[in-house]
Amino acid sequence: MKASPLSVAVLISGTGSNLKTLIDAKAEGRLVLDVCHVISNREQAGGLEHARRAGISFSVINAQDRKSQDGAVAECLRQFNPELIILAGYMRILGADLVAEFNGRMINLHPSLLPKYRGLNTYRRVLEAGDVRHGASIHFVTAALDDGPVIGQVRIPVLPGDTQTSLAARLGPMEHRLLIAVLELFTARRVQMRHGKAVLDGNVLFQPLVLGEDPGFD
Ligand code: GRF
Repeated sequence: MKASPLSVAVLISGTGSNLKTLIDAKAEGRLVLDVCHVISNREQAGGLEHARRAGISFSVINAQDRKSQDGAVAECLRQFNPELIILAGYMRILGADLVAEFNGRMINLHPSLLPKYRGLNTYRRVLEAGDVRHGASIHFVTAALDDGPVIGQVRIPVLPGDTQTSLAARLGPMEHRLLIAVLELFTARRVQMRHGKAVLDGNVLFQPLVLGEDPGFD
């Protein structure tokens, strides 16, 4: 029996290249999903243009304080009732009530190999630390920032001469591949959060699933 399309809401603040990846993957038949709504806290977010072009409804919600922001976002999400909420570059921190209401239904894309470098400026911090690798993670959202159980990661090497810009340029396309891979698991209803752990096919993921660009790279 074919699974029904996974309904997802996507929260953005910026260019929305991850949102575009989902829209394209659906159009090409690579992901069986339905982006039911997009929320942005910035009216000028480039990502809204992707929603517009694809005929996806969107809301701009930008309240002064976190409580009002979360309240309005929660109300909007209740209305669309998506199975999964994807924070794809949404630059506002969510309060505990919002996270609790959608517990297990919200994932975040973060540009670091969590648990390293929670928060902002991950590229700068990786370069300053002299790390040999960088990457991106997709994790379930819990009340603590960038702290929920990690489902999947993608790794890239840090090359001599790398800058924040060059690292970001190489990581972006890999992050999109990670998003597709993780969303394939969600559309097949193979992954959940149970008791604060990521679970795949009924088994706890003790390590995140890892994608890499080069089989020779550890
Ligand atoms: C991504 O790098 C993601 O890891 C981070 O914000 C960025 C969003 O990019 N949380 P885009 O708006 O999807 O292009």
